[in-house]
Amino acid sequence: MSQPKRLTEVSELRNFASYCFEGQQQSYEELHRRLREFRIDIDLSRFQTLDPFSDTYIKEQLKFYEELTGKRYGLANEATDVNVEQSRYRPYPYGTGSNKVVGAHLAAIGKLIEHMPVDPPAKVLDMGPGWGNTTIALAQTGYQVSALDIERRFIDLINLRAQDAHVDVITKVGAFDQAHMLGEKFDCALFYESFHHTPYHNELLANLINNCLTVDGRLYFVGEPILDHNPVPWGLRLDPMSVYSICQFGWFELGFSTDYFYEVLRRQGYECDRIQFTELTDANQFTARKRHPRSTYEPGEHFQSRQNEAHWNKPEQEVDFQFTKGFAELRVNPPVGTTRAQLKVSNFSPLDKQVVIKTDIDTRDIMLEANGSQDVVLDLTETCETLSIDTDSWSPKKLGLSADERELGVAVHRIELS
Ligand SMILES: C[S@@+](CC[C@H](N)C(=O)[O-])C[C@H]1O[C@@H](n2cnc3c(N)ncnc32)[C@H](O)[C@@H]1O
Repeated sequence: MSQPKRLTEVSELRNFASYCFEGQQQSYEELHRRLREFRIDIDLSRFQTLDPFSDTYIKEQLKFYEELTGKRYGLANEATDVNVEQSRYRPYPYGTGSNKVVGAHLAAIGKLIEHMPVDPPAKVLDMGPGWGNTTIALAQTGYQVSALDIERRFIDLINLRAQDAHVDVITKVGAFDQAHMLGEKFDCALFYESFHHTPYHNELLANLINNCLTVDGRLYFVGEPILDHNPVPWGLRLDPMSVYSICQFGWFELGFSTDYFYEVLRRQGYECDRIQFTELTDANQFTARKRHPRSTYEPGEHFQSRQNEAHWNKPEQEVDFQFTKGFAELRVNPPVGTTRAQLKVSNFSPLDKQVVIKTDIDTRDIMLEANGSQDVVLDLTETCETLSIDTDSWSPKKLGLSADERELGVAVHRIELS
């Protein structure tokens, strides 16, 4: 196949979108064939120097949207031209006539239901349910589902589909930030390919957490473009399918970097876990729950929080420690009154190792002998958020000791805060 054509100017994008739309009129396969003809490479450096939590950043993204679409962003732009009667028995993805699209969608919904962070008959708020595929499947599974969507035709469709399936679903036409108007407390708010439609995601989460979730209410994000290597903390996506959707339909198609996404939740007092499927890239899941104070951190169970996966090797089988990769951080949330951290570190390499351990107010710089262990006690305050352990990494294979190719730092045992 020839190299994709590189588009570097915003002015080229609307023609690109019209060309792809003509393809979509023929078939989904033709649309995707046309999308593959292009690579979009627009300079995003203006976002890299701005604080992603600032109003200026939001304004710059809205300005970028205007450049791409030629119009201002408003919620009305999220409209979808859906034929309610036709979709009643053959909703998206069936209407695409593509076995690939249908298969991927059903597989993602299957994983979504399998990993629901709460069990039936919990109350679930389906945010931006679209055609209602998740809404109906969750209601049939026994959840008490409410569905909120800005598009009236989607809500009409869901009401009909719920009637056909003999399930009760509470529906509301409205914007995400009107979720509190449902007047309910939910055990879980679900976003399936919908969270990335709002520039105001920080306010949206604050409203959900403060007004719509139960005390231990979960957030569940599925199929959202949250990527380790997103070019900006958050912003309009520039893959051909997203640019097509933005320019042709006016939808706000955002992508997030994983770090930014975790930080958004952290600022709301939530901690987040990721379930990633190598086979099903569209079904990535993030579950989040309120961060509760904790005084004991166990290897495997707490070290390998998905936020720290870059820092820790996978947990060992049947041992009470976990290897860092060299530098490692552990997110902590000390209970009120906590003043110290206590941990044991072991050096399983054949060489002595310098290890630096830090809390918010204390540092220990220790020399760990080859095959030696040491107990370490540090001061910390109850507002301490991370404990870091820094050392050079080593590889058993490179040292000719075994076939183990991993980069290892030190082994860390249970950590206790008191
Ligand atoms: C890509 S669709 C996802 C639909 C569904 N969750 C699924 O995956 O099949 C995004 C949905 O979010 C809705 N939506 C977008 N922005 C919204 C907003 N600000 N408030 C409420 N709904 C919104 C759209 O109308 C649409 O139904």
